[in-house]
Amino acid sequence: MEVVLAGKAGFCFGVERAVNEALQAAVRYNKKIYTLGPIIHNRDVVEKLKEKNIFPINMEDIENLKPADVVIIRSHGVGEKVYDSLKNKEIEIIDATCPFVTNIHIKVNKYFNQGYGIIIVGDKDHPEVMGINGWCQNTAIITKDGEDLTEIPDRICIVAQTTEKKDNWDKVLAKVSCGERDILSFNTICTATSERQKAASDLSKKVDAMVVLGGKDSSNSKKLYKICSENCKNTIFVENSGEIPDEIIKDNRINKIGVTAGASTPEWIIKEAITKMSDEKDLEFNEQLEFMEKFDRRIAVGSVISGKIISINEKGAYLNIGYKADGLLPVEEVTLEPNEKLSDLFKEGDFIEVKVISRKNEDGYVVLSKVELERQEAYNQIKEAFEKKEPIKVTIKEAVNGGVISSFRGVRIFVPASHIELYHVENLNEYVGKTVEVQIIEFKEVKRNTKIVASRRSLLQKEREKSEEGTWEKLEEGQTVKGEVKRMTPFGAFIDVDGVDGLLHVSELSYGRIDKPSDILKIGEVIEVYVLNVDRENKKLSLSLKKLIEDPWKNASEKYPVDSVVLGKVVRFADFGAFIELEPGVDALAHISQISHKRINKPGDVLEIGQMVKAKIIDVNIETKKIGLSIKEVNDL
Ligand code: F3S
Repeated sequence: MEVVLAGKAGFCFGVERAVNEALQAAVRYNKKIYTLGPIIHNRDVVEKLKEKNIFPINMEDIENLKPADVVIIRSHGVGEKVYDSLKNKEIEIIDATCPFVTNIHIKVNKYFNQGYGIIIVGDKDHPEVMGINGWCQNTAIITKDGEDLTEIPDRICIVAQTTEKKDNWDKVLAKVSCGERDILSFNTICTATSERQKAASDLSKKVDAMVVLGGKDSSNSKKLYKICSENCKNTIFVENSGEIPDEIIKDNRINKIGVTAGASTPEWIIKEAITKMSDEKDLEFNEQLEFMEKFDRRIAVGSVISGKIISINEKGAYLNIGYKADGLLPVEEVTLEPNEKLSDLFKEGDFIEVKVISRKNEDGYVVLSKVELERQEAYNQIKEAFEKKEPIKVTIKEAVNGGVISSFRGVRIFVPASHIELYHVENLNEYVGKTVEVQIIEFKEVKRNTKIVASRRSLLQKEREKSEEGTWEKLEEGQTVKGEVKRMTPFGAFIDVDGVDGLLHVSELSYGRIDKPSDILKIGEVIEVYVLNVDRENKKLSLSLKKLIEDPWKNASEKYPVDSVVLGKVVRFADFGAFIELEPGVDALAHISQISHKRINKPGDVLEIGQMVKAKIIDVNIETKKIGLSIKEVNDL
């Protein structure tokens, strides 16, 4: 007899995780542990768990629990109120809800709170569906295939029981999709289910008989049976090998038997069944496998387990991990933090989570690592930060070609040089040892490597934009504000005013003559400036220094009365005369005819730039800002 196992069969991720949680809890607690309902729909497993002090209870039994009792929530999950009542009674909760189911709870709760009506495609009496309904105050419309749907709200959020058939989902979607409804549909059917259903369907078309292994209460096993029956009339539904009738094995017309199993069927039940039907009775697994043996096989490299520290010495910590061999957590595998010691972190009796890095060392211990767990957690955090676009803090470790290497909980992250600041950085070594916030801009898992790239600039840019926004709102023409000189060009200086770049044009630097901004300003200097113009639309800010100084032409006629003699500096020549600076911003003209008693061809014949000369005021016109001087009247030139 040829026995063929379906490509996908048995424990799904969520069920396996829940059973593992239960087994680890059995190691951790030296007392009775309760599960809210059977941990899985498989009587054999439930019986084995009882031997480990793990007992199923009903919802009504919560009333009788005492504070500090331990309750495991199985993979189906429960409603919000159940969590509340457990917490109110101070019960210790081990939440083994399948993460895919938790995801449904989150969605249902979110959209229910936003006013959406909730539709669940599934079986109203299934514990998973009841749990989901508990996240929308039990208001969900529950339908199997949409046939019974009558009053459908205008805004609906549809989810499915994870083990529901895709056909039913499609039917419900078709039914609600007419009209102008606001529909949010989340196909939450778990691929574990569809994969098992497809593998069972394919196999059942090619065999003479089909055996479906699963708990009688398991809805996904019942569905497998239904699918296989449609393809193969010799399909039987059994809980374990003991229920497989001999006739099917002895029937000469049956040469090939297919086997599939529901998501709550453990591997050892599948192997027993295969062994019973197979010709090869001496197969290695042809023996009653104990449940603990199955657990033993879970001590695989890479698995995360928990254990109790039984002793600590200079080599590391020794743990009881509920396995035939104890675990060793070597000192170098304790933490990535350089200053923390094993003895400071843990003590005997502590329960800790660790990752298996070797099933057996030369002394027979299972070698464990907390460092690898930390690293894994760090990767997960980085990935989450990447997906949610949230910043994380990293410490810069070294400057390398083209950037710096930073570290987040021991994970190396590259920050390109152009992403360190908003401007070009000359010396990257200045950043080594600094802790800065960055945003992950690339997280790529390529084979065994993960490429992680971060940017500080993007955060600085956002900060700047935020502060800019506030500054634009506050800025008003005529204000006097403080700003930092950031850059200089021949035509002016750029001043940072609370994140906004303002231009201080060279003509606005002084009433006097200034050739270039660096004549009076320094980079980094904080100065007071006058807001000349705020152009919010084009994001242009014009500033002035000049406006903060009194106009030297004000009261010029009083300061420089006609016939008075002044001392000034020769600042420039023209063909028609020389300009004499009386004070910064007030240049007066000595016409060429007023420079010397002698005939001169040009002012430079008798004067020099920079020379201080006395002159008599012969004319003052405030409106045109012109003052006429005579040098020759007070000098013997
Ligand atoms: Fe979870 Fe899918 Fe199994 S939802 S419990 S992994 S069938």
